[in-house]
Amino acid sequence: MVPMDPERPNNRKRIAVLASGRGSNFQAVIDAIASGEIPAVCVGLVTDNPGAYAIERAKAAGIPATVVEYARFPTKAAYEEALLEAMRGCRADLFVLAGYMRILGAGIVHEFSGRMMNIHPALLPAFAGLHAQRQAIEYGVKVAGCTVHLVDEGTDTGPIVVQRCVPVLPDDDESTLAERILAEEHQALPLAVKLFCEDRLEVAGRRVRIR
Ligand code: GAR
Repeated sequence: MVPMDPERPNNRKRIAVLASGRGSNFQAVIDAIASGEIPAVCVGLVTDNPGAYAIERAKAAGIPATVVEYARFPTKAAYEEALLEAMRGCRADLFVLAGYMRILGAGIVHEFSGRMMNIHPALLPAFAGLHAQRQAIEYGVKVAGCTVHLVDEGTDTGPIVVQRCVPVLPDDDESTLAERILAEEHQALPLAVKLFCEDRLEVAGRRVRIR
């Protein structure tokens, strides 16, 4: 018999979340863990923003929150060193970027390669970077959506795990489109986390096969 890992009761994965703001995607993951949909335990929230509402959500769910406030560090390198320490302290199998609004340095990306995923409010590779929904409206696309992808060194360029799409309606503005996409994000992110936690993702180059 394989001995039980005390940090992973019932073989559940340890996941940690990075979020900078509202945290509605974080909440979707918390809820999917609570309902048994995702076989994981959420071991921590790490945020760069002491005012993030995600911290309240962590408190309500009994998840330890660590604030690594960007503004308190003299350089980006010093910030990233502290962030890396906080992340290591989680001893997580998977890090979920759920509205984490900074680009991670190469050191962090390498250390957690293959076990860090990000949600982006666009159908990548279209509209990477900031204000994806505004970019979609301005470009005039008829279909938009969201993407969950593994994190590599580029901005929103890693292998794609899950995508979901929504129509862009004639009267949409950035906020109505963002709202429609967000509802899909709340499905896509828990699904991608679940697939990871069930060891069902097989990555071959850019392509992610779901077992
Ligand atoms: C979400 O729409 C997420 O896709 C986006 O920020 C929002 C966070 O909302 N992330 C990015 O744009 C990352 N480039 P939430 O805090 O309510 O989850």
